[in-house]
Formats: sequence, C-alpha cells, structure tokens
Amino acid sequence: MSSASSVSALYGGNAGRRVTVRDIGAAKARHERWPMVTAYDAMTARVFDEAGIPVMLVGDSAAMVVFGYDSTLPVTVDDLISLTAAVVRGSSRAMVVADLPFGSYQASPQQALESATRFMKEAGAHAVKLEGGTRVLPQIETLVSAGIPVMGHLGLTPQSVNVFGGYRVQGRGQSGEELMADAKALEHAGAFSLVLECVPTDLANRVTTALSIPTIGIGAGPGTDAQVLVWQDLMGLTEHPAKFVKKYADLAGEMHRAVRTFADEVVTGAFPTAEHSYS
Ligand code: KIV
Repeated sequence: MSSASSVSALYGGNAGRRVTVRDIGAAKARHERWPMVTAYDAMTARVFDEAGIPVMLVGDSAAMVVFGYDSTLPVTVDDLISLTAAVVRGSSRAMVVADLPFGSYQASPQQALESATRFMKEAGAHAVKLEGGTRVLPQIETLVSAGIPVMGHLGLTPQSVNVFGGYRVQGRGQSGEELMADAKALEHAGAFSLVLECVPTDLANRVTTALSIPTIGIGAGPGTDAQVLVWQDLMGLTEHPAKFVKKYADLAGEMHRAVRTFADEVVTGAFPTAEHSYS
C-alpha cells in the first residue's frame, strides 16, 4: 500500500469488512481525504477493491462509458442493477453506491423508494446516489427513513444537461448561494455525503467547511473531503476528457498495442505456440 494509506484509515485500511457510512462520517471528523472511483463490472471492481478504494460508484455515467450513449439520460434501472450486482460480487471491502438513473426517482418519494429498494435487494448496493437540491428533499427523507443511505449530487448534475444547455460549471455568482442552501438542506434531510461536480473551488471549499458530512469533488478543486473520477477517464480510455480529469495511465494506447500484437501474431502464425496448446 502507498505511504498515503498510512495517514488514511479509510483508503486502504480495515480490510475484512465493508466500509460503512459510519466509517465515512468518521473520516470527515478526522479531516481525512479519500478517493472514490466509478466501477461497472466485477473484474475492475476487484482491482479497485484490492487497491484500497473505499467507495465505488456505479454511476449513471455507465450510459456513456459502458453503453455508448451521448448523455446519461437513456440508462435504466435494469441496466444499472446488473452492473451494480457485478461490482458488489467483485468487491469485498468497498461500499458500493448505485446511481438512481434519470426518471427513476423524480416523480415522487414513492418512486424513489421503489427504485432504491430494487438496488438494495436485487443488486446488494449499500447506498444510492441521486441528483438535485430542494426538489428531491422528500425523496431523500423517505429513503433515509426506510434505511437506505443517500449520497447527494449538486453542481453540474448531468441528468439536467438539457436545462443547463450543456456541460458547464455551475454555482458561479448568486447561484453559488443557492447551491450552498441546497447542500445544507441535503445534509439536514439525512444525506450521508455529497458529490459536488464542476463548481468553483471557493464554493466547494465553503460548502465543505459548512457541512459535517463529507463532500466528494469532481471538478471542484482540491478542498473537498474526497475526490471521484470515472475510471475510464483516469485510465486514459476517454477520447476527450474534461479539464478536471487527470490521466493516470494510457490504457487506450496499451490496449491498442496489445490487440495489434495479438492480431499480428494470429496473421503470421506466431500465436498460438505449443505453450498455449493442448497435447
Ligand atoms: O455517474 C457518475 O459517474 C457520477 C460521477 C461523475 C460523480 O455521477
């Protein structure tokens, strides 16, 4: 484990049981920073779990990075339940948070409860995430009182891309005060953590200080309690990543090289040899 894990009990610590909402709350009290990544399948979930990632999000970003849509809107509860179940099966320590997709919770608290219950019962999720501020408070209250931990999501909430008119920074100027009020209301409604996406650093810092639940930034600067990235972005699979993405690997280049080598060896007859054949 890297030296960073020695200053972080949540990242890399306590193998042998799942990370819980209590662990996450305690990390905030200790002023401990931690990483979250998205995951959509069992094999990558196992790698991230073994690397000590404490929280994995089965994001509705799956619509784009798994299913190839150009927004998060088309993905369904059924789509994400299969992926969430795979991530739960592939991991043993991380808390697995499932995104409630567009159209699965906005209509009413009852709709939110039915969707979230499916994620908990059918996929084994440990928490759900939903987007929005004041308008989803009744949903959050209903889920929390039913025993379902809820992660909030403010700022650039991609399910509202058509209202925003594109993927743009949110919370500049006066709208920052609205976001701050929403953040406090989400905490009050019982959310255990809050994603802040594409908001100015100053605003994210102010929200992080004002809340007692952890903030998880993506394009929100260095001051949030946690940071999240979509794994295909951080591994270099995404063609045109956003400004907030740091590329930690060139998986696209490595996969291209590997598959070309395989193809060349098939064509030339260099693969398979006796080593990879049965007698
Ligand atoms: O769907 C997703 O991957 C997300 C993260 C970007 C926070 O919501």
